[in-house]
Amino acid sequence: MKKKQIGFELSIFETSDELSKDEKKLLETAEAARYDAYAPYSNFQVGAALLLENGQIIIGNNQENASYPSGLCAERVAVFQAGARYPGVAIVSIAISAASKEHLLEVPAAPCGNCRQSIIEYEQRQKSPITLIMRAEKGPIYSCTSVADILPLAFGSSFLGDS
Ligand code: THU
Repeated sequence: MKKKQIGFELSIFETSDELSKDEKKLLETAEAARYDAYAPYSNFQVGAALLLENGQIIIGNNQENASYPSGLCAERVAVFQAGARYPGVAIVSIAISAASKEHLLEVPAAPCGNCRQSIIEYEQRQKSPITLIMRAEKGPIYSCTSVADILPLAFGSSFLGDS
């Protein structure tokens, strides 16, 4: 029997001044998008902003529904919009901003499992890593250099035989 440790490096920044100019702008764009989230049921608002390799920035925010499962997370609103509007254009980075209207959130909210699976499909297709940058309403910024970091042993199209 063998055992293998799987880990990843998480960068933690105290302020956005430690980020590159592009990443700081992307995080601010995600924060601005968060305010337009439609989240009357959870009162939990999430904004996402993607930087594409052609320089375009695409935003998304969570869109809830009275039939709860019909709503969609901010990250998927953004990546699906990018896929629809700029097919084949690689995603360089994703910034995510989350806050609750009910309590102060100080720990960055990483994408949920469904969003990780959706985003990693783009990472696998484009064959280049997507940087994630996350911040709550207050507190540190978390960053990792690939979606694969937060979805180890990911399922993907290669398992279906179309490597
Ligand atoms: N939400 C996101 O937008 N992204 C995530 O990764 C986690 C959760 C949204 C979905 C729902 O509208 C609200 O946050 C509470 O779960």
